[in-house]
Amino acid sequence: MIVPHDPDLYGAATPAALYEETYENYRAYLNPPLARVMKLSGSPVEVRAEGSTITDHNGKTYLDFAGGYGVFTLGHRHPRVVAAVREQLDRIALSGRTMFNPLMGRLAKRLAELTPGDLAISFFANSGTEAVEGALKLARAATKRAAIVATDAAFHGKTLGALSASGRDAFRDPFLPLLADVRRVPFGDAAALRGAVDGDVAAVIVEPIQGEGGVNIPPDGYLREVRAICDTAGALLIADEVQTGLGRCGALFACDREAVVPDVMTLAKGLSGGVIPIGAYVARPAVWNAAYGKQPLLHTSTFGGNELACAAALAALDVLLDEDLVANARERGAQLLAGARLTMQRFPAVIADARGAGLLVGVELRSEGYGGTIIPELLKRGVTAAWTLNQQRVIRLEPPLIVTVEEVDTALRAFDAAVATAFEKLGTLA
Ligand SMILES: Cc1ncc(COP(=O)(O)O)c(C=O)c1O
Repeated sequence: MIVPHDPDLYGAATPAALYEETYENYRAYLNPPLARVMKLSGSPVEVRAEGSTITDHNGKTYLDFAGGYGVFTLGHRHPRVVAAVREQLDRIALSGRTMFNPLMGRLAKRLAELTPGDLAISFFANSGTEAVEGALKLARAATKRAAIVATDAAFHGKTLGALSASGRDAFRDPFLPLLADVRRVPFGDAAALRGAVDGDVAAVIVEPIQGEGGVNIPPDGYLREVRAICDTAGALLIADEVQTGLGRCGALFACDREAVVPDVMTLAKGLSGGVIPIGAYVARPAVWNAAYGKQPLLHTSTFGGNELACAAALAALDVLLDEDLVANARERGAQLLAGARLTMQRFPAVIADARGAGLLVGVELRSEGYGGTIIPELLKRGVTAAWTLNQQRVIRLEPPLIVTVEEVDTALRAFDAAVATAFEKLGTLA
């Protein structure tokens, strides 16, 4: 008998063989404890993805409500982004760096048009944490000051500089000492911030809405107060929009919700439409010039702004606007949050709060223990979801901005059933 070749098995003989090979590789060559945790929680092997759906090695499909932690704003492999990348692949893939790169120029111009106020000068890297590194270095060089003020529970990435500004001690402690003179204040507390910002502070770095900290939405007016505090002290405001930017929270940028113009904005995740990695900061010209106006090679990246990533990003920005995905994020976000709140009303012993902005929705559990059942139960029912990195009591629901009414309904039914099962199995934990 001739068995037809299945390209989704990546050369393995059977789905089970692909699973075993992948698990063993993780266990032996990548991250043994993580491999075991993933196996215990029932994680399959991803083999294919399209739109809001991921397919596993057994051919089972999942609605992607973890959404790559915010990467898949356009879903997986949006056809216009894929086409742009394919076309670019036949011209030039990575920049030779000795000549002008037309797409990097175009993308920087596009970001200057779209970002608020006079943000205009871009630097391109390959990830969120690199965007943050760039922004922190820019702030130090521009102000000739050293101190950075950041917020509790913040997540800015895991390279040393970004980690220094992040708020979870468990991620920081093994690497101490980190950057000197990083001051931490409670998120959303303008008075505490005022007390921490003085003439030594180069920048305040803040997520307009904390993502990995547990989907924390600050009081109205907070960001405007942060802006005023920075202005008074001559410190720069870095808005880390790596997760909140580009429509995720129901506005093009979360800063727009308070009409605040930061001095530097960081972007990554959704910027290149989930096809090729990219990270960026966009700065006010005066800030950039103060830092690098006379030293253009102080901060560089070999791969940053390569043609493939820029082609993807240009196409992704067009799709975001042409398909009015920001409005869809608002509408589907309201539907998702309302549904999560209904489940909260049914299971008040399990869920303490459901909150969100656009399609960044966080469900706060009364005990961390419930998450270990709810997430695998969701997976069994064909929906991915994930913890937030700095607050394991909060599960995030972060689907693509292209998600439909029916897909949100399906995910909500699965969520309600998963919470019901967790309550049946575990009872009241808190
Ligand atoms: C606000 C924020 N900044 C920075 C990062 C780091 O991005 P990356 O994982 O691409 O380095 C993240 C990642 O979750 C983030 O949410």
